[in-house]
Amino acid sequence: MIVTVATMKGGSGKSTVASCLAVYWHLRGRRPTLIDADPQRSIMRLAARERALGGVAVIEDATEDAPKTARRIANAGGLVILDTPGFRSKTTVECLAAADFLLVPVKPSPFDVDRMLDTLGFLTERTDGRRPLFRCLLTQTTRESVISRHIRAELAEAGLPVLESEMTNRVAYPEASLWGATPSLISWKGPAAREIAAIAEELDLLLGSRQAAA
Ligand SMILES: Nc1ncnc2c1ncn2[C@@H]1O[C@H](COP(=O)(O)OP(=O)(O)O)[C@@H](O)[C@H]1O
Ligand SMILES: [Mg+2]
Repeated sequence: MIVTVATMKGGSGKSTVASCLAVYWHLRGRRPTLIDADPQRSIMRLAARERALGGVAVIEDATEDAPKTARRIANAGGLVILDTPGFRSKTTVECLAAADFLLVPVKPSPFDVDRMLDTLGFLTERTDGRRPLFRCLLTQTTRESVISRHIRAELAEAGLPVLESEMTNRVAYPEASLWGATPSLISWKGPAAREIAAIAEELDLLLGSRQAAA
């Protein structure tokens, strides 16, 4: 199973979401592999810090071969989380094409949503004509804010499925990354860790049904 985290907008939370999910599943005993396909190397930088993402297996491959590496691991039954560049490149295109599941983080701002909508066709078009299963994930939100509700409605109107769970704006995320950790490694029962668990469990339900269909 390859979960690709992608959107053509820098700073939308791709690397944060990818690392948080990988660590969460790792702590649940799932042995995921996190592939850093972004030449900016955010994941590799995290893995080089003290907590080393709690020992999650991390592979650096920003070449067009990243999806092949991902596919090899997935074919052996592994769970792969693929973090991608925030710009269009051959590698990005290939990572999107390889996705079994596409997660699109989007900040609740009209600029971010517009940019996401502009690139959505590109995000979800595949060489084999199939659309990957995908969900948008609202990131850096303020719970119950007017803007979040509004963006949620706008996405729904555009026919784009959005995860019920959100990743709210919390200093716990950048703080954990100071140590090369994610909130799940700092405080398993803390509020940030609980929202990561909610996102991961919502995905598990979707991926489970996807695997059952395959
Ligand atoms: N939920 C959040 N709350 C607070 N800060 C966040 C959150 N998600 C991401 N950030 C911060 O926003 C910045 C961009 O996030 P990042 O995951 O690197 O985005 P991308 O990979 O899409 O470029 C980083 O400094 C990160 O620590
Ligand atoms: Mg990134």
